[in-house]
Amino acid sequence: MSPLEGKNVVLCVTGGIAAYKAADLTSRLRKKGASVYIIMTESATHFITPLTLEVLSGNRVVTDMFDRAFTWEVEHISLAKRADVFVIAPATANIIGKAAHGIADDMVSTTLMATRAPIVMAPAMNTNMYENPVVQQNMELLRERGVCFAAPVSGHLACGDTGSGKLADPADIVRVIEDALTPKDLSGLSVLVTAGPTREAMDPVRFLSNHSTGKMGYAIAERARARGARVTLISGPVALTPPEGVEVVPITSALDMYDAVLSRLPRLDWVIKAAAVGDYRPATCADDKLKKKQDDMSVALVRNPDILKEIGARKNDHQTVCGFSMETRDLINNSRAKLEGKNCDMLVANNLRTAGAGFAHDTNVATLLYRDGSAESLDLMAKDSLADIVLDRMLAIHQKKDR
Ligand code: C5P
Repeated sequence: MSPLEGKNVVLCVTGGIAAYKAADLTSRLRKKGASVYIIMTESATHFITPLTLEVLSGNRVVTDMFDRAFTWEVEHISLAKRADVFVIAPATANIIGKAAHGIADDMVSTTLMATRAPIVMAPAMNTNMYENPVVQQNMELLRERGVCFAAPVSGHLACGDTGSGKLADPADIVRVIEDALTPKDLSGLSVLVTAGPTREAMDPVRFLSNHSTGKMGYAIAERARARGARVTLISGPVALTPPEGVEVVPITSALDMYDAVLSRLPRLDWVIKAAAVGDYRPATCADDKLKKKQDDMSVALVRNPDILKEIGARKNDHQTVCGFSMETRDLINNSRAKLEGKNCDMLVANNLRTAGAGFAHDTNVATLLYRDGSAESLDLMAKDSLADIVLDRMLAIHQKKDR
């Protein structure tokens, strides 16, 4: 479920050509279950009509032009109080400057001054304006006071210039808003997540691997970061975009992963091993491409170290470890043996043969196993939602240890 569900978003639209994108942003916020209340500066009304945003938000749009005469006093306080999150998109250099220096001379800046809700700004302006040190310093001041920014992107701007200052994609602005609404219950924790497959080389051209796409591990890393943890993601080769705000360490083989994880272990609070690690590797990796000779060929394999088992053996009393287990039969018995044998605090078990579970899907069907012998069977759900449940359960185990 999105953190926007049932929330009140006050969306302020200030005057720039990107103001028209507030329409798309409004629809996206409503689709996520939020109520949207819009305030426009007078200059914004020249770029997009209040009527458009009124229809899309389903609420009366407050503008400086028309509303000052009657409900102004009451309105700015009531909207400020109603906001669960306060968004300015697009945010001009003007509103950024006013917000940084405490100027409240119109409906947007006055309501902003009166709110206690988290604030998100999505700047959009000409590149030279955006790069002007005064704008950068104002943004820095606001950042220090806790304002979250949806950073503008580089691109072709309406003025004809090419450079940074283009409004962030509305989908990315929504993500920053969701972040601002997410309680930071994991702040202060160092979390390491592994994801994806490993590749075990036979020669410079070929390798042994598996079908893991990394989606589950990436979802966990992303949710842990959103909830305030310091996250390191040790990732095998995958086709996913690295999540922002996460330290991503790319690795190839199980031995690479072993080094990357165990060298960091003493500094970690949690380890979540969602990677599908190759159990075996070719005994040797040929220097040159192996040529075909006879009809059959066999490759000698040797065991890779079990990273999770090593973590289980080395972890201290304050560290919390979660393993993953994928099976095609006898899921619970096999998984419980791993939970005990690898000394994990909990284990996420999923059956490759269950519809909607396993590699490549955006969903999973999992059973969570705990050290007290209990098990929790979960329904089919998005990997993001499962990620949050895994983190909730890790937090409960962690808190019990530290009590
Ligand atoms: O024993 P199995 O490979 O099924 O266990 C899966 C769990 O162990 C996963 O959490 C996986 O990341 C971890 N693992 C590991 N090192 C290996 C094999 C698996 O850390 N060599």
